[in-house]
Amino acid sequence: MASRQELAVPGMRKAAWRRGVVTFRLDPGSDPADDFFPHELVFARACVRSLGQVTGADEPTLAAHAIALAGPAGWQNIHVWGRVPAVSADVDGIRARLLEACGIGVVAEVAEPGDLVLDIVVDAADRWWVGWHRAATLASRWPGGIYPHTLPDGKVSRAWLKLDEAIATFAIPFEAGQRAVEFGAAPGGACQRLLEAGLRVVAVDPALVDERVASHPRFQQWRMRARDVKLRQCRDIDWLVCDMNIDPRSTLESIGRVVSAPGCRPRGVVATLKIPDWSRAAELPDWLASFASWGLQPRARQLSTAGREVCVVAGPAR
Ligand SMILES: C[S@@+](CC[C@H](N)C(=O)[O-])C[C@H]1O[C@@H](n2cnc3c(N)ncnc32)[C@H](O)[C@@H]1O
Repeated sequence: MASRQELAVPGMRKAAWRRGVVTFRLDPGSDPADDFFPHELVFARACVRSLGQVTGADEPTLAAHAIALAGPAGWQNIHVWGRVPAVSADVDGIRARLLEACGIGVVAEVAEPGDLVLDIVVDAADRWWVGWHRAATLASRWPGGIYPHTLPDGKVSRAWLKLDEAIATFAIPFEAGQRAVEFGAAPGGACQRLLEAGLRVVAVDPALVDERVASHPRFQQWRMRARDVKLRQCRDIDWLVCDMNIDPRSTLESIGRVVSAPGCRPRGVVATLKIPDWSRAAELPDWLASFASWGLQPRARQLSTAGREVCVVAGPAR
């Protein structure tokens, strides 16, 4: 729903949609540029100019139809992904077959900036969508806009991967020696990622952080709720990270209390806003306006490694 709303730009009429795929028709006579879609999409993972659908009883037949529809030449990379995770497909096998058929050879699945990418969305075992896009933002260089990494062994929670994706997506300039405070830090995956980036880290959470993180020499924990943190302790924070499982309005109150306090001026905020139900996604513009009211410029994305939540990264307005 949220994707459908953010993609409803002038010049397009909504067409078919199914879970995981929303399609729009261009108005007759319109010939938009390659970068017609807004680059900074929050909920839609990938935008593709559709060439149509192909059907077939098996993968070789589907691949032959897809190549006939797309034409074999000119593509610099091929992205293949399932419409939803439940659609099981041998995406690596399909990609290898199509790369060979298009004469591209072996290329990394992360496209180079500016690459013309052929997109195959596996809708069902016997039906694929075929389309294309020009790689631009980092997320548009990943197949389906999905972060192409998994959680490494030894990480204490999936929040490690979420923060890893946020760092890549927004090019967050964490630097060794900087100080970060995280509200909602237990069991500690994000703190672990921050420590790996060389930061000094304070976890604020009534729950205990995992011993593997807590024992790090650059780590400390304040076992309390965010609203009980003394503001004078926040004066030399470089980064405020928030990942509390509470209503977004309460998260914003905790952030606002710190960033608008005299003497507290973090370089940036990395906040997870949990969306209690999808109808609340319509409040996103108001949530982002809160950052602007504190003199911060927010960017937002629903990360592919996260659930029903939005990651907002905000820095000083320029
Ligand atoms: C999703 S978990 C955080 C995961 C964590 N960022 C990580 O890296 O593993 C949410 C956490 O928010 C904490 N929390 C909820 N309300 C809070 C508050 N008012 N102040 C601080 N922490 C809070 C919970 O105790 C819980 O540990």
